[in-house]
Amino acid sequence: MAQEEPLLAPRPSSDRSSMRNAEEEDALLTGERTTRPDERRRGWAVWREIGLVAWALIATIAVVVLAVVYQHETTKSHSQSTSWGPGGKPSGKRNLIFMVSDGMGPTSLSMTRSFRQLTDGLPIDDILVLDQHHIGTSRTRSSSSLVTDSAAGATAFSCGHKSYNGAISVLPDHSPCGTVLEAAALAGYKTGLVVTTRITDATPACFASHANLRSYEDSIAEQEIGEHPLGRVVDLILGGGRCHFLPNSTDGSCRGDDRDLVAAATDNGFHYMQDRAGFDALNGGTEAKLPMLGLFAEKDIPYEIDRRSQSEVYPSLEEMTRTALTVLSKATEDSEQGFFIMIEGSRIDHAGHGNDPAAQVHEVLAYDKAFAAVLDFLDESSTPGVLVSTSDHETGGLSAAKQLHKSYPEYLWLPGVLANASHSSEYLDAQLKEYLSGPGKVDDEAKQQTYIRQTLLEKGLGITDATDAEVDALLHADSQAPPQYVFADLISRRAQLGWSTHGHSAVDVNIYASCSKDAWPLVGNHENTDVGSFLASYLDLDISSVTKRLQSSAYWSPDASAQDVSTEFSWMGDPVGAELRTDGLDRYHGDFRKRDLGECGCGGVH
Ligand SMILES: *[C@@H]1O[C@H](CO)[C@@H](O)[C@H](O)[C@H]1NC(C)=O
Ligand SMILES: *[C@@H]1O[C@H](CO)[C@@H](O)[C@H](O)[C@H]1NC(C)=O
Ligand SMILES: [Zn+2]
Ligand SMILES: [Zn+2]
Repeated sequence: MAQEEPLLAPRPSSDRSSMRNAEEEDALLTGERTTRPDERRRGWAVWREIGLVAWALIATIAVVVLAVVYQHETTKSHSQSTSWGPGGKPSGKRNLIFMVSDGMGPTSLSMTRSFRQLTDGLPIDDILVLDQHHIGTSRTRSSSSLVTDSAAGATAFSCGHKSYNGAISVLPDHSPCGTVLEAAALAGYKTGLVVTTRITDATPACFASHANLRSYEDSIAEQEIGEHPLGRVVDLILGGGRCHFLPNSTDGSCRGDDRDLVAAATDNGFHYMQDRAGFDALNGGTEAKLPMLGLFAEKDIPYEIDRRSQSEVYPSLEEMTRTALTVLSKATEDSEQGFFIMIEGSRIDHAGHGNDPAAQVHEVLAYDKAFAAVLDFLDESSTPGVLVSTSDHETGGLSAAKQLHKSYPEYLWLPGVLANASHSSEYLDAQLKEYLSGPGKVDDEAKQQTYIRQTLLEKGLGITDATDAEVDALLHADSQAPPQYVFADLISRRAQLGWSTHGHSAVDVNIYASCSKDAWPLVGNHENTDVGSFLASYLDLDISSVTKRLQSSAYWSPDASAQDVSTEFSWMGDPVGAELRTDGLDRYHGDFRKRDLGECGCGGVH
């Protein structure tokens, strides 16, 4: 938001006018005339007095007119700012938009900014929309590790509590904690979740479900459609992850059982969409009915770098964001409460896991556009609101530098290499698999090499100087370096970008807000749980009473007709074994390079 310069702010006046003002002020205070009576000049004085009165009148009218015009001109920006009531609490109807850039660390921003400056021919001081709204940083450790995962990270946001890696809004003692979305729903707010990965993945899961482990996605899906001790808490769901809603007898299902959750959701009142046509029928949100469930991919929506050439199949994060905000603001236009929505740029994290910088810059740009769309919404909305955006952690240990040789390194990295890539390593990996082992597979090795060089490397990645060894590494990939990792490494090394892990890292991540005044408690460096506390306090929600309600559902059963008398909280799934650390940090076990070399963490837990 642009800095507001009050139009009627006092301006520095010249010495002469300030002297006159001082004289007049004196006169007002003392009740004495400012000019000495002078008989000879009485006539002039009378005219002067009349002139002054007239001038005062005109000036007053001018001020009133200007004030009215000013008021009119600035109604928009005034209406967005939150009213702060007694005790510094926000008051009045308001909306809360929380955005999560999963896995986006500070280097992702530096990389994307430089990338865009190069590709769009922008000056060196051109920055992202996010950059313009940076207000602080967040410390991300979980209760069980200095390096958090998305589950513990999102639990800090949803419940305001630290928990162990893998926990879905469950405390280290395996009892559930109330979430900001649940509390908002109970307080009469409309609620939404928008993501680009599975809607059952850890970040969205933490807002609308409780599970002892993030992998209990079948149960998470059930809770999200209302098989939840508090009943249905989410009104709007847009994203991927259809496979957890389909019975295991259906193509494209990844459920362990034969339950049809699409049918269950529809019975529960949800309007269901599964493709672009269904999304387009919402007409940008003006033709929508809540509750709604839009699942546009079996698992993930493709990376933006790949999706942009399939936009007739998948909506973008920005499109889903704009639609969701329209739907929720329309649904709440006549109610006392506004809405709460969590919007996630889910796959910034996946690009980090894959060490794929070309995929990541496009994910960050897509997130920046969604962030800007929310700012547009806040500008135009007559209901005040705040947008807060942060990451749960960094992924990949990305650095905008890489030493390629033993000699002292050059000081540079090359965004032009990323600009030449037109697909992600995930996409190219799938193409290669299809070519080598799909129905029309080609067995001739020379043809395979040509295909890799020309179609995948030149057209897909913009790499024209691949060595025979690099082509061979793609053709005869071992489990340690699957083709996806090889593609990503080809481009990272050429761009001179470094990665230290295929997992997460412990670096602090950035906090952004629509307006630092409205998100003032998050200015500066904070614990990730402070973000959760802010979300609850902005809507003045009582999270602990929700926790109490959940704690009293210890023997609740997803089967509405039964009480579960087996174990406390068994609806949250097996409270896992001793192998999962739930309290305190681990220590060094001397297991440097212990890991089994045959094992590949590819596509592991995010
Ligand atoms: C599908 O789910 C049912 C239980 O709901 C189970 O008995 C069956 O074995 C499952 N089938 C597969 C192929 O997993
Ligand atoms: C990008 O592609 C163009 C056209 O093929 C090529 O001339 C240029 O050298 C490439 N840039 C980089 C950094 O690889
Ligand atoms: Zn994450
Ligand atoms: Zn991750």
